[in-house]
Amino acid sequence: MELDRAGGRPELVDPFGRAISYLRVSVTDRCDFRCVYCMAEDMSFLPKAKILTLEELDRLCSAFVARGVRKLRLTGGEPLVRRGIMTLVNSLSRHLGSGALDELTLTTNGSQLAKYAPELKTAGMERINVSLDTLDPDKFRAITRWGSLDQVLGGIDAAQAAGLKIKINTVALRGVNEDELPALIEWAHGRGMDLTLIEVMPLGEIGEGRLDQYLPLSIARAQLAERFTFQDINYSTGGPARYVRVAETDGRLGFITPLTHNFCESCNRVRVTCTGTLYMCLGQEDAADLRKPLRASEGNDLLYAAIDEAISRKPKGHDFVIDRRHKRPALTRHMSVTGG
Ligand SMILES: C[S@@+](CC[C@H](N)C(=O)[O-])C[C@H]1O[C@@H](n2cnc3c(N)ncnc32)[C@H](O)[C@@H]1O
Ligand code: SF4
Repeated sequence: MELDRAGGRPELVDPFGRAISYLRVSVTDRCDFRCVYCMAEDMSFLPKAKILTLEELDRLCSAFVARGVRKLRLTGGEPLVRRGIMTLVNSLSRHLGSGALDELTLTTNGSQLAKYAPELKTAGMERINVSLDTLDPDKFRAITRWGSLDQVLGGIDAAQAAGLKIKINTVALRGVNEDELPALIEWAHGRGMDLTLIEVMPLGEIGEGRLDQYLPLSIARAQLAERFTFQDINYSTGGPARYVRVAETDGRLGFITPLTHNFCESCNRVRVTCTGTLYMCLGQEDAADLRKPLRASEGNDLLYAAIDEAISRKPKGHDFVIDRRHKRPALTRHMSVTGG
């Protein structure tokens, strides 16, 4: 399907004047890992009938591109375990070719990269994010429950060999990888990869105490600053991370701090799930169903109307709290639904 120009409809701008130029798409809620901060081990997944087909996902993404989205990130669950994922990637890459899209990218746990890295590069992907919280095989198994560190490291090797630039995402976990953060930074920077630290966000029931996992990045940063020299840089990937350069390693270190520092003012993002639910904010429950208008007709008029209505409701920001009194997640939805 060629990109229609959305019938002359304008680009998406929310009530606070923020242009929506970045769409994150969770292509599946399934995953081959069970990271302790993300899912319960006995997670139940969505029935197939609720999930958009690859063609529907393509149509949905293309509608957003037609309305001014310039950056698409595929995520999940684990995007590379969705059957036929390369059909979607190859199809979406036409928007890179036409110049409508600046970037098509992916957030992955790395388990399937050895298989897919060359094809992803051929499809026009330049940079990908790989999530990795530890370099210790036992700890890796404890955090991911089902994952193998060797497999992920093999995937990272394959991706670099294929010419993909990698950013490592590391969730900072109190008492788990806290003491390993310097080694992770040195390892990533030594391989020419940026690394971004992420705070645990209170999303979804995960079956154990989130408070125990929460390490404020203000604390992690202060600890790291005793060892490394941070230089302020003006660098942005269009995402929520704030970056510094580490003088000792000459690499970039990012901080994503939804809890200790609100990153909402410059938010240009919306998220859509594999069921076609559009979330206007990662930290709010408000959502719009795009599957119904998508399936209601072959043309995109209803879809555009639903998207416009949803964007007019995009909130100014979120207000996460790790709730000390109630010990409940701030939101009941898991990160694997919206993909981070
Ligand atoms: C939900 S995963 C989806 C993509 C892929 N499976 C992966 O792990 O990269 C996206 C990112 O969200 C992070 N994440 C998951 N649950 C989180 C939570 N409760 N708080 C903060 N980050 C979380 C993961 O570490 C990962 O970097
Ligand atoms: S963080 Fe990613 S790899 Fe880990 S369980 Fe969630 S979706 Fe799977």
